Amino acid sequence: MAKDVLIYKTMGGTVKETAEKVRLAAKNNIDVFNIMDKPVIDFKKYNRVFIGTAIYASQLPQEITAFLQNNSSQLKDKNVTFFIHGLAPKEEGTEIANSLLNKCLSVNKNSIYYLGGKLDSKNKSIFIKLFYNFVAKKAKIDAKNPNNINEQRIAELLKYAASTN
Ligand SMILES: Cc1cc2nc3c(=O)[nH]c(=O)nc-3n(C[C@H](O)[C@H](O)[C@H](O)COP(=O)(O)O)c2cc1C
Repeated sequence: MAKDVLIYKTMGGTVKETAEKVRLAAKNNIDVFNIMDKPVIDFKKYNRVFIGTAIYASQLPQEITAFLQNNSSQLKDKNVTFFIHGLAPKEEGTEIANSLLNKCLSVNKNSIYYLGGKLDSKNKSIFIKLFYNFVAKKAKIDAKNPNNINEQRIAELLKYAASTN
C-alpha cells in the first residue's frame, strides 16, 4: 500500500495541530516526523511528501530550509505538498511562502497550502504577550485575538490528504 510522509516544524503548536489533522485524514499510511527529532528519511519508501511549517520573522525556520536543501535531490522528483501557517493575510502570505520556498527548492505554487495562523498568549509572560502584540499588529490583525486560520483552506488540504494520489 502507498505510504506518505509528513515532516513538520512548530513553535507554538499550530503546525503540529494541522499535522495531526492530516495524519487523521490520510487514507494512505503516513509516517509523521517532527523535524527537531532530526529524522533521516529515505524518500524512496514514500509516495507523497507533506512538509508543514510556519513563517517566523518573515522567514522559514532554518531547520526546514536546511532540510529542503539537504534533501533537494531526493525531493525534486517527488510529489511534495507544503502547508504553511502565518499571520500575514492570504495573498501576502501565499506570496511570502512561495518566494521563501523557491529559494530552497523549485516549488509549484499549486502545491502550497497557506493556512493563516494563530498566536496563543495564554500563560505567556508579559514580554511574550507584548511581542505577540507586535507580530499581530505587523500582520494587521486584531492583537486581542490573533487568529486568522483559514478553515476552508485547511479543509482543502485534508481533502487532498484523504485522496490517495
Ligand atoms: C516569533 C514569531 C514570529 C512570527 N513572525 C511572523 C511573520 O513574520 N509573518 C507571519 O505571517 N507570521 C508570523 N508569525 C506568526 C506565526 O507564523 C503563526 O502564529 C503560526 O500559527 C505559528 O505556528 P506554530 O504555532 O506552529 O509555531 C510569527 C510568530 C512568532 C511566534
